[in-house]
Amino acid sequence: MRVNHLNLINFRNYQKVNIDIDNGINLIYGDNASGKTNLVEAISFVSLGKSFRTNDDSKLIMHQNENARIELEYFSKKKNYLDVILTKEGKTVYHNDIKLERLSELNGLFITITFTPEDVLLFKDSPSVRRKFLNIACSNLYRGYIKQLSDYKNVLKQRNALLKDEIIDERLLEIFNDGMIDNQYQIISCRYQILKRLEEKLNLMVKKFTNINGMIKVKYQCDFDLYDSIADFRKNVLDIYNQDKEQDIKRKATSRGVHHDDFTVYLDSKEVADFASQGQNRLIALCLKLSYGELIKEQINENPVIILDDVLSELDNQHQKKLIDILTEYEQVFITSAEDENIEGINKYQIIDGTVLRRN
Ligand SMILES: Nc1ncnc2c1ncn2[C@@H]1O[C@H](COP(=O)(O)OP(=O)(O)OP(=O)(O)O)[C@@H](O)[C@H]1O
Ligand SMILES: [Mg+2]
Repeated sequence: MRVNHLNLINFRNYQKVNIDIDNGINLIYGDNASGKTNLVEAISFVSLGKSFRTNDDSKLIMHQNENARIELEYFSKKKNYLDVILTKEGKTVYHNDIKLERLSELNGLFITITFTPEDVLLFKDSPSVRRKFLNIACSNLYRGYIKQLSDYKNVLKQRNALLKDEIIDERLLEIFNDGMIDNQYQIISCRYQILKRLEEKLNLMVKKFTNINGMIKVKYQCDFDLYDSIADFRKNVLDIYNQDKEQDIKRKATSRGVHHDDFTVYLDSKEVADFASQGQNRLIALCLKLSYGELIKEQINENPVIILDDVLSELDNQHQKKLIDILTEYEQVFITSAEDENIEGINKYQIIDGTVLRRN
């Protein structure tokens, strides 16, 4: 996969951008606040249908304007087009001129993997951050995952609404308990499998890229036991919901379910979040994201576009060199940096106050 062309209109600090983009490593450099992150945010936005740094899409529209547009031509087996129009009221996404009814239809079309400075906190942050990573990975790797997840969220919402009633309709509660089984079974299976495969890739990537010695373990944390048969899983979940009934009614919320899932990464049996240095946290998080890239390559035979925002400056020389070596294995990479980096064979773009200038 690769971006061939990018057009922006009134996106953040870019009034107008119209650029061709090459394969290989693209360095986006420029002063602080010139617009480097904004540029890669636009590329990532068309991939996910949302920003990697805000949930408020209106922030993406250039101040004093009513709407913004990101048009991107990408190559994945053939030329394709993604077009996003943002207004203060909402967004509309077109793929090859066909309007998407749901953002989930973007899954698997144009895959980007983004690493930002905040990812140093991937293992320390709240579980929702890790679930977000897991959900993006699962939805790009398993068709149907996102539907299972949204069905689950629907039933969960209805169950929680019921728990807020003065008098609980017990029969309805049982119906909702039942409605939470199949989708959770599928979600858990996907998450479990992905984490197993990521663990294997992560060990290889850490060896290849870093000077960290030791065995990495990735442990999936789920409120329910993992079962091979859905019948056993069903029994386990219903038992737990029965046990939790009084507590759920008192809390007016569902205490257990995949909405609490998490995963923990260990280096030689010690939690990376607690014991590893900041640099090691960053390296292992970066390795995890690259491992996800390896899974994409392996499973859907596509090269995801890698976006590294402000990462190089945080790495020592030796890790910078190794990272560049690893990145040459990808079809297309975007790296932002405040400095004009001296790396052989890369394409350079300088950003000066919302203007993109090709420099080689
Ligand atoms: N909606 C908007 N309209 C106009 N300008 C905006 C909007 N949103 C953000 N900006 C401005 O865009 C500028 C560039 O932001 P960006 O985060 O891309 O900079 P950067 O080059 O990545 O900087 P750094 O090196 O500090 O990371 C900022 O000055 C910010 O105020
Ligand atoms: Mg930035």
